[in-house]
Amino acid sequence: MSEPIVLLLSGPNLTLLGERSPEIYGHATLADHVATATAAAAAHGLTLEHVQSEAEADLVRAIHGARGRCGAIVINAGALTHYGWSLHDALATFAGPVIELHLSNPEAREPWRRQSVIAPVASGTIAGFGTLGYRLAVEAVADLLAGS
Ligand code: DQA
Repeated sequence: MSEPIVLLLSGPNLTLLGERSPEIYGHATLADHVATATAAAAAHGLTLEHVQSEAEADLVRAIHGARGRCGAIVINAGALTHYGWSLHDALATFAGPVIELHLSNPEAREPWRRQSVIAPVASGTIAGFGTLGYRLAVEAVADLLAGS
């Protein structure tokens, strides 16, 4: 059997990581985070696929494409986390584990960041650990897939 695929989804503005508010998001780039997740996945015999978009529709389509094909989804939806209800609905149709991921801790920031439309359809959330979160998210997925 081929290696299970983990789909890592990145939402709007995450391509600016490294330059964007480094005091909040750190100096690592999105490519650095994807490399961290890819290495963690490989260590567990998982294949990581990454899709980034500034557009909610593209992320919805990627979730549709993951149904029946990918074992798990890790999603940092950026600001769409807080209002992207079509992501919520798409993720609700996905059978495997879903990990909500954030570099920062939205709970400790502006009030509007405290609502997540992803959380109700996620197996769990990892937030506030910067790039370490990308490794932790893959570790969580590996554990959940091994137990399923
Ligand atoms: C983020 C947190 C969101 O509130 C914000 O809009 C982002 C990044 C994070 O990784 O900390 O774009 O998802």
